Amino acid sequence: MDTIERLVASDQHHLVHPLHHPDDHKTPLVITEGKGCMLHTADGRQLIDGLAGLWNVAIGHGRAELGDAAAKQMKRLGFASAYAGGTNEPAIQLAERIVKLAYPTSAAIYFTTAGAESNDSAFKFARYFWKVKGKPSKVKIISRLHGYHGVTMAPMSATGMAVYHKMFGPLDPTFVRTAPAYPYRWQGNTDPGVGAAEAVEKTILEQGADTVAAIIAEPVMGAGGVIVPPDTYFPKLREICDKHDVLLIADEVITGFGRTGSWFALGRYNVQPDLVSFAKAVTSGYIPLGGVIASKRVHDALQSAPADQKFMHAATYSGHPVCCAVAMANLDIIEGEGLVERAGVMGKRLLAGLETLRDLPQVGDVRGLGLMCGVELVTDRGAKTPALGVAGKITKSCIDAGLLLRVRGGSADPAIGDTICLSPPLMTPEDVIDRIPGIIRKAIQAAF
Ligand SMILES: Cc1ncc(COP(=O)(O)O)c(C=O)c1O
Repeated sequence: MDTIERLVASDQHHLVHPLHHPDDHKTPLVITEGKGCMLHTADGRQLIDGLAGLWNVAIGHGRAELGDAAAKQMKRLGFASAYAGGTNEPAIQLAERIVKLAYPTSAAIYFTTAGAESNDSAFKFARYFWKVKGKPSKVKIISRLHGYHGVTMAPMSATGMAVYHKMFGPLDPTFVRTAPAYPYRWQGNTDPGVGAAEAVEKTILEQGADTVAAIIAEPVMGAGGVIVPPDTYFPKLREICDKHDVLLIADEVITGFGRTGSWFALGRYNVQPDLVSFAKAVTSGYIPLGGVIASKRVHDALQSAPADQKFMHAATYSGHPVCCAVAMANLDIIEGEGLVERAGVMGKRLLAGLETLRDLPQVGDVRGLGLMCGVELVTDRGAKTPALGVAGKITKSCIDAGLLLRVRGGSADPAIGDTICLSPPLMTPEDVIDRIPGIIRKAIQAAF
């Protein structure tokens, strides 16, 4: 059996990590086990999983049902190609189920294995749609500053955080970034929802509507700092998209499958997206799976395309039977245990707890929707001066007090204060939810 020291030394020699820098990896957390909302580390600590892994472990850790579903499916059929002309039962069942859970206009699913691949596929769906419609010049994708859409080449170009671009530019010039719906830092006298949607319209007009294929938007920005738009934003954005013949891609990689208190997040505004990207909670992270939900309008374009306009997009693991079988077991748990409704109720409880932090002078904003909450830090509340450089200290204090979370650091964009991000598993018990604000209070006090 390897000692922890040997394992960590081997890791430092042999593994390249996401967001790699050796300074950040001197004393990595070695997580050995998870049970419910708790994680156990190799050095014997127990931590509340305040971010549900990476926003994805909706049902909590250690659910044997998912392991059983994977083993059963692997023993029966471990892989089968789903390229046109071939298919498999779990993929069909899961596609039908997700279509029913999603929007009234949702029609069909293309499966991927990650969020970035879902967005990359959604961009290709959008370009494909306009080519079938005889508008091949509509190729550009608009996204918003502070948005996160993954970091493979095309999604990186959509991601609105410069820190992800610096060492990998240039960006794809057919991607254009515009202002987000960010109530706390909205400047101007207009309603921030309407104003931010109008900023998108301005960008469409500047680029020329005949060159724009789609806009991509997270219903609630996650990695950017849990930025919740005003209720006016998405209805206005939908109106603008319709006016200029631009598709609306909802990036529901975090919000899909219950996190905001509904299965998918735009229903609460009565808005129907043309394409939806999903990943993460569809399997609660137990196995990689993602996908794109095509609305009837987009699906019709695929179904009616002539043979020489085939949808030549593919991936070996699209419709992977094992991943889809695990997703079915995961959805059984989310449904059976009422976790979507629970996310709404527990989210309000967590947000109410975090609101009590507003008496701290460094707390500029507290926001959230469902079990996605953010606390933005400032050094001067009146001037909303961003507090920068405290992310590391706060993360460490929280870990020392038994809470693992993520703090969006100012290096991503110094115009935003470091923001504490929370998205615990949807099953997190009330007493654990109630402990979180107290731990964060002490961590903020210690950091300043
Ligand atoms: C909203 C959103 N879109 C896309 C992605 C990228 O997903 P992945 O890391 O699986 O490629 C993420 C990842 O956090 C995300 O939060």
